[in-house]
Amino acid sequence: MAHEQTLILIKPDAFKRKLVGKILQRFEEKGFDIRQLKTYDFSNEKAQEFYSVHKTKPFFNELVSFIGSGTVVACILEGNNAISTVRIMIGLTKSFDASPGTIRGDFGLGITDNIIHASDSHESFIKESSVVFS
Ligand code: CMP
Repeated sequence: MAHEQTLILIKPDAFKRKLVGKILQRFEEKGFDIRQLKTYDFSNEKAQEFYSVHKTKPFFNELVSFIGSGTVVACILEGNNAISTVRIMIGLTKSFDASPGTIRGDFGLGITDNIIHASDSHESFIKESSVVFS
């Protein structure tokens, strides 16, 4: 068990639907501390940098366009096993497959528009937080 930090992005679909408070509440109730929090508007360049690991994927352009389509909320959370526990709380990537009780499972049905992103490793956290919080 490691005390660690992770980054989440509440995506434009969730921001537009005014789900920010409900989503952050889940992480606070679970016991995570909010260490950094801000609204953020991705430029095309920053979006490509953030998702560079996916640049060869067929959905890359759609993903970059979507994340830049509106305001997101970026947040650094801290607590025990933050990276894996937050990933469990958000649920599977395809929201229609995500279990009820997870954030994607409770709030969406999309794939690109899947409510929330969370870092999948410490290396991703360092890279992603440097893009958004630099
Ligand atoms: P996210 O956790 O932000 O990481 C990469 C994103 O790519 C993922 O959530 C989805 O929003 C998006 N994406 C779009 N199409 C796909 C796909 N076919 N498989 C996986 N991810 C996809």
